[in-house]
Amino acid sequence: MRLTLTQLRKLKQTNEKITCLTAYDASFAYLVEQAGVEIILVGDSLGMVVQGQDSTLPVTVEHIIYHTQLVQRRTTRAFLIADLPFMSYATPDMALQNAARLMREAQAQMVKLEGGQWLLETVQLLVERGIPVCGHLGLIPQSVHQLGGYRVQGRTETEAQRLLQEAYALQQAGASLLVLECVPSELAAQISKELTIPTIGIGAGVACDGQVLVLYDMLGINLGKPPSFAKNFLAETGSIPGALQAFVAAVKSGQFPSTEHSFN
Ligand code: KIV
Repeated sequence: MRLTLTQLRKLKQTNEKITCLTAYDASFAYLVEQAGVEIILVGDSLGMVVQGQDSTLPVTVEHIIYHTQLVQRRTTRAFLIADLPFMSYATPDMALQNAARLMREAQAQMVKLEGGQWLLETVQLLVERGIPVCGHLGLIPQSVHQLGGYRVQGRTETEAQRLLQEAYALQQAGASLLVLECVPSELAAQISKELTIPTIGIGAGVACDGQVLVLYDMLGINLGKPPSFAKNFLAETGSIPGALQAFVAAVKSGQFPSTEHSFN
């Protein structure tokens, strides 16, 4: 039986940190689940780490369906989130059609989409039709060209206020989880404290309700320079199961991320 949203919400209420890793295939997903990771995200990061693309933009709904099916096949307990890729939710109706495919054809339990204000109507539409939504704010990689690069977001007072308001608005629209990527720790801490839904941070400091990393990053498998917020857990453990267990232990105990893997 897979974990449910109710169980994930309870982890926030009882101050237990939530662990999340990406996976894109059956074997790694099996190991991730065996280590006790609560959420597996089939992220569009697969475009970069599996396909070798320069960004996540070339990833299609078909790619996400295929990889989610692989992950779903050999897992039974982890909560399964699938990314809606670039342009697959450009309109509310497209979002509904594509999210339904991820759930029906690949058995995702939730879909994740990137953005704030402009997505509120879409989030409400999906949720009203029974599709749980995970929001994603801060550095939103599908907008890398608009953002002008992979950079920390929310550093100015105006940007920080906008992020806080968008986080509230996504919660209000019905989102059940919120990924915060590359935002200053203090801002992520404020958002996590004020929202009732769990926040999952990546480069967003230790105060988030949970942590996510791209699997390849935490195993030190990088085609280029590893992101500064990612820790190579394989280096200190020497085995993939060991690295996965060390990640879970470090997140649960609040040892990861340290300031070295966070932003001011
Ligand atoms: O695509 C992905 O893997 C993600 C995580 C980095 C949160 O969105």
